[in-house]
Amino acid sequence: MPQLPQTLHELTVGQLSARSGAAVSALHFYEAKGLISSRRTSGNQRRYTRDALRRVAFVRAAQRVGIPLATIRDALAELPEERTPNRDDWARLSAAWRSELDERIEQLGRLRDHLTDCIGCGCLSLENCVLSNPDDISGQRISGSRLMPERRSVDCP
Ligand code: FES
Repeated sequence: MPQLPQTLHELTVGQLSARSGAAVSALHFYEAKGLISSRRTSGNQRRYTRDALRRVAFVRAAQRVGIPLATIRDALAELPEERTPNRDDWARLSAAWRSELDERIEQLGRLRDHLTDCIGCGCLSLENCVLSNPDDISGQRISGSRLMPERRSVDCP
């Protein structure tokens, strides 16, 4: 990984990309989503403070375990004065995300266990198939297509 001179207080997008391992396009996307911020030079070039490195590392680590960007953004927004997350912040946030990750792991386990049935089937039934309808929230309350308005006879040819 390229080292940055200690005297370098601001990074170009290329330097941030090289140091963080995130593509320039990903950094632009993170910035558009409010996960990192930069100032613009008189030539309209982005400059990031060094703590952007830690924010990008935080975002990438959270993404790697499947945390949605909106959740990551909300977590970063909770930090006072847009402070860069430190070790304690990461410990607190990762603990809070544990139940969400456990739920996702359980759901993936269910999908894995039913995948064998689906291979070669191809029905993608909304009633029976966990691949096409993994949560089936409405199906837990009612069955069939009762959420659809009933067709009136005048609509039918
Ligand atoms: S594809 Fe038929 S049950 Fe999933």
